Amino acid sequence: MTNMDTNIFDILESEVRSYSRAWPTVFESASGSWIRDEDGRDYLDFFAGAGSLNYGHNNPVLKSALVDYIVGDGITHGLDMSTVAKRDFLQTFQDTILKPRGLDYKVQFPGPTGTNTVEAALKLARKVTGRSSIINFTNAFHGMTLGALSVTGNSMKRAGAGIPLVHATPMPFDNYFDGVTEDFHWFSRVLDDSGSGLNRPAAVIVETVQGEGGVNVARPEWLRALADLCAERDILLIVDDVQMGCGRTGPFFSFEVAGITPDIVCLSKSISGYGLPMALTLFKRELDVWGPGEHNGTFRGNNPAFVTSKVALEHFWSDDKLHKSTASKGEKIHQAFTELTKRFEGSLSTRGRGLVQGLVFEESDLAAKVCKLAFDEGLLAETSGPSDEVVKLLPALTITDDELDHGLAILADATAKVCS
Ligand SMILES: Cc1ncc(COP(=O)(O)O)c(C=O)c1O
Repeated sequence: MTNMDTNIFDILESEVRSYSRAWPTVFESASGSWIRDEDGRDYLDFFAGAGSLNYGHNNPVLKSALVDYIVGDGITHGLDMSTVAKRDFLQTFQDTILKPRGLDYKVQFPGPTGTNTVEAALKLARKVTGRSSIINFTNAFHGMTLGALSVTGNSMKRAGAGIPLVHATPMPFDNYFDGVTEDFHWFSRVLDDSGSGLNRPAAVIVETVQGEGGVNVARPEWLRALADLCAERDILLIVDDVQMGCGRTGPFFSFEVAGITPDIVCLSKSISGYGLPMALTLFKRELDVWGPGEHNGTFRGNNPAFVTSKVALEHFWSDDKLHKSTASKGEKIHQAFTELTKRFEGSLSTRGRGLVQGLVFEESDLAAKVCKLAFDEGLLAETSGPSDEVVKLLPALTITDDELDHGLAILADATAKVCS
């Protein structure tokens, strides 16, 4: 293994780096669900770029379209100028994703990251309603810029802001009280009580499954009740589908399972299909109150990402094959994890939807130990949750059953070692 103590990363790169600490090697190439380091060691990837590589590394269909585009001198950088690549993407997005789902959204290209689309969503909600306050949820994660951080739960990340994070009020996410308290009891009460002190919110922002927050899955009925509450009280509903969108939970949008239509949707991570930076903010047509250039950014038009995104939509979303295989592969992980929870009763539990699955350790330190042992055996998996107590799996949706079995066997061995 490369000596990580005396290398340029330690000398020059900021202490803020984190994944390189959990996986102390130097990666060089990748294909599908495998990533190789410079010593030629292969790792099975159950992390998929934190959900940015839903179709695997360097998917050949997307790669060939990208190479052709670059070789043909296609536009690389174009701010928000109209380009052929953007037109082709928009047309395909409309025909393949929006129209079949009856969604009449306008598309905004914010800066190309998840936190950029969240900022755009919050700003738009405030502009539309003329209100400043936002409701977020316990254990939410929405990004690192100040607006997104203000609606994020994690205290360590919040402390990094260095200033008070205001204009957001957290409410309990689904099952926060283990089913003891009626859903939205508190939220609807404080909304309706003129003495509660709650400022009338512009919007509610929610993840249908909280990935960073510990794979907390909102039930469809909870999401429906939330959507109804927002509609009744004239509050905009923002679904942050940055990590759970693009098929991660099965359907293209994670909220489809609940049959709701959010007012605003945030997408990023896997929308380019290739790991290229790209983000979209989608909103109902009547919410498009932006003035020209009112919210801009130099890197909104990542044209190579439009190219790979269009091909990914055509290739993976013209039928329901990927949706179905994600459900069955998710079930395979669920079964493997359920067996472990039975074997080590009291120490473990499991939760997830589609191909985001979590193994939850009562003793929080053990999750990181499992990930470390897994890395030693050639598997990448990360932890999540407020105490990093969850081993979170986000394999590529294109992973094969054999690859899944291989990785699950490594995890089972690692779990047995730390729990026995
Ligand atoms: C739900 C959600 N929203 C927003 C973000 C922020 O995305 P980015 O890191 O690209 O800014 C993330 C990142 O993990 C996320 O999971």
